[in-house]
Amino acid sequence: MQPVRIGIIGSGNVGAGTLEILSSNAAELQSKLGFPLQITAVSSQNILNKKVSHIPAGARITADWREVVFADDVDLVCELIGGTTTALEIIRAALSAGKPVVTANKELMALQGSDLQALATAHGATIHMEASVAGGIPIHSVLREGISADSIVGFFGILNGTSNYILTEIEAKGSAFEAVLADAQKLGYAEADPTADVEGYDARSKLALLAQIAFGQKVSPTDILCEGIRRITPFDFEYAHTLGHTIRLVCAARKTPAGLALSVRPTLIPKSTILASVLGAYNAIWVRGAAGQDTFYYGRGAGPLPTGVAVVSDIMRAARDLKTQSVQRCSPFSFLQLRQEALASSDEFTSGYYLRFRVRDTTGIIAALCKILAENGISIDAVLQLPSDDKSNLPFVITVEHAREANLRNALSAMSSLDFLVEEPLALPLEKGV
Ligand SMILES: NC(=O)c1ccc[n+]([C@@H]2O[C@H](COP(=O)([O-])OP(=O)(O)OC[C@H]3O[C@@H](n4cnc5c(N)ncnc54)[C@H](OP(=O)(O)O)[C@@H]3O)[C@@H](O)[C@H]2O)c1
Repeated sequence: MQPVRIGIIGSGNVGAGTLEILSSNAAELQSKLGFPLQITAVSSQNILNKKVSHIPAGARITADWREVVFADDVDLVCELIGGTTTALEIIRAALSAGKPVVTANKELMALQGSDLQALATAHGATIHMEASVAGGIPIHSVLREGISADSIVGFFGILNGTSNYILTEIEAKGSAFEAVLADAQKLGYAEADPTADVEGYDARSKLALLAQIAFGQKVSPTDILCEGIRRITPFDFEYAHTLGHTIRLVCAARKTPAGLALSVRPTLIPKSTILASVLGAYNAIWVRGAAGQDTFYYGRGAGPLPTGVAVVSDIMRAARDLKTQSVQRCSPFSFLQLRQEALASSDEFTSGYYLRFRVRDTTGIIAALCKILAENGISIDAVLQLPSDDKSNLPFVITVEHAREANLRNALSAMSSLDFLVEEPLALPLEKGV
């Protein structure tokens, strides 16, 4: 049986995992497919100066991606370099040449995925992106096919392993954010520049992409309310535990009467909820359908081999389509067309909130804060103060009942002029039911 010939561009973490799985599972893949997968070309910018394992003898090794995309001996192109510039050029060139593309690129697919899907359709090609969100968890397949009969009403995800690792280490060890981040960098769990992970931008791209698949609506990542984890302290976990909660960076998507409500925020979630048990670098997505109700998906969100499994499974799907000469049976976005609709304004989000203050101890603090909250129509649920010796930097917490986000922001802005505050209050959503 003739092989399907694969060209791989990118030989970093995911490229290496993909090459390893194609090599070590070759016989099993062939017995599933009925034909072999053959790697005929591998490219990355510095490939001529480094050793890359699992490249089969006879495969072309080149620093020029064009020698992969335009080659006659490449039927299917894997883009595994990331970013939104060269990767876009590669994918456009491959699709325009009618070649199927497999990519792990959440950033690019969140921004341009539906246009690339249209380009694929126009050229009789296909595009596949399972590895782009939550690495080893096949959440795209689930939304696109597994539960596509349902109407999704919401989902909640822990989609960034680095920030989940940092939060759960702060929680377990009581260490400060900066110390845990430094350890995570030493252990390879966090990048030298951790901005995309700790500010929530990586999770935001993944949320944008999953929301498009779940709800059939175009979502631009920059329209999503996004807050990072830098300000979370061991104190916050102590208070969260006192409230029977923990803190996770939650990607939330909800259908609301005001439109789709999307956010990435450190959030207090009940310790009893299944999401609270997601520890370390693991990812999870809890999906709620109108008919099928709750389903939960858990696994490794990154890493060469878990992500490599997702890439190679996509290669198998694309290769089967090539062999049967079928056009894409199912759009990678699940919906044939994505709707253009505005997201719900974050002003209209409602939630209970956890407000953490640091103050110079003086009289009248609670009265001043309560007055501002009351003026903004916000009702107090509880006031908590754990013992602390430092009267010049005293932490305490007020939790409030469900309130509009806009009212909360007005209250926080009014509080900024209070001279007993050592720093801006930290406001986190406090979920009872997630
Ligand atoms: N890491 C994960 O676990 C994971 C999980 C899910 C999705 N992803 C996604 O998978 C993609 C790859 O991530 P990664 O972690 O494998 O990245 P990585 O380890 O940094 O590897 C990137 C690879 O791309 C090559 N490259 C970069 N710019 C290039 C250019 N302009 N032209 C040619 N080659 C270029 C690099 O070449 P050289 O090595 O030759 O310098 C390297 O081989 C990204 O889209 C990422 O978001 C990653």
